[in-house]
Amino acid sequence: MTTPHGIKKIAVLGAGLMGHGIALELAAHHRSVHLYDVSEQLLDKAVNRCRVGLKALNQAGLISFDEIETSISRISTSLDLSETVENTDLVIEAVSENLDLKRSLFRKVDKIAPSSAVLVSNTSTFLPSALAVATQRPLQVAGVHYYNPPHLLPGVEIIKGPETSDDTVELLTGFYTSIGKRPALIHKEIQGFIGNRLQVALLREAMAIVTSGHATAPEIDRVVRSRMGKLLSVAGPFELADNQGLDSVLALAESEFPMLAKDRSLPGVLMDKIHAGDLGVKTGRGFYDWTVESIEAWRKNMADSLIHMATNDR
Ligand SMILES: NC(=O)c1ccc[n+]([C@@H]2O[C@H](COP(=O)([O-])OP(=O)(O)OC[C@H]3O[C@@H](n4cnc5c(N)ncnc54)[C@H](O)[C@@H]3O)[C@@H](O)[C@H]2O)c1
Repeated sequence: MTTPHGIKKIAVLGAGLMGHGIALELAAHHRSVHLYDVSEQLLDKAVNRCRVGLKALNQAGLISFDEIETSISRISTSLDLSETVENTDLVIEAVSENLDLKRSLFRKVDKIAPSSAVLVSNTSTFLPSALAVATQRPLQVAGVHYYNPPHLLPGVEIIKGPETSDDTVELLTGFYTSIGKRPALIHKEIQGFIGNRLQVALLREAMAIVTSGHATAPEIDRVVRSRMGKLLSVAGPFELADNQGLDSVLALAESEFPMLAKDRSLPGVLMDKIHAGDLGVKTGRGFYDWTVESIEAWRKNMADSLIHMATNDR
């Protein structure tokens, strides 16, 4: 099998929000990327988004000015799947979240890509085993779950399916480490992986507190941002637990666990908003009221903050 440094040509299937970010990061790390989608218009838009992302990296001092266009030149686009995946070492699937669509692509790619190529999916929902069944190479199929925006968040979850080989895991771990990512291995595939499970657990508790009227959404956001968010960007929950003392953690668990939300039903506060048609920024109202200006300001602050963190992270 290929070595991590032997991964030179990479195909990215789906050039949307995630696909373009994945492509721009790979290109900025000197990899040749073949980007595939269903229309020229979408591919052109993706390349433009890559250029915008690369310019922001340049403005933050993360890449040189010359690297903007050099990186863009490493990205080729195609509407032809055969052209996209032939001679590739790694195929990263990032198309819309639809199992039939993903399986059909995996089936086709399996027939065209070199037998040594590893096929991964960026799906947030489907397990690697659900995609590996569509191929004749289940040992070389895994999940690689990026976070949005892929080029600014260093984490990726590498998800091992029941048939994924240790060689494949080693190759992916080595490859992602070599391009500056911080891969976390999920040894046995699990629904929601790590990141989404933790995020949803936090959201369930937060919504339970709002539903029961003990605090409002902005107050909870304030606590998360000013306390947990700051600590968790420096240390994970287990590092914090060790430093707190596991006997103290036990006392906390004994007193707090019985009070936590355990509902499998959907939170009342969420369903009330859905029924009222309040879907968040897309309708102008969710847990907050949004205007065009406040949405733009929020997005700018998020983008600037992520770039700032990526700069400090080097
Ligand atoms: N958005 C996120 O925050 C996020 C985070 C992690 C993982 N993901 C996963 O990444 C994947 C893509 O999500 P996204 O947010 O980029 O979606 P998106 O809608 O922005 O992009 C999906 C792209 O797939 C393309 N596509 C659809 N059918 C295709 C086909 N047959 N062949 C080629 N391309 C096709 C679409 O044209 C579109 O450009 C999903 O599996 C999603 O679960 C998303």
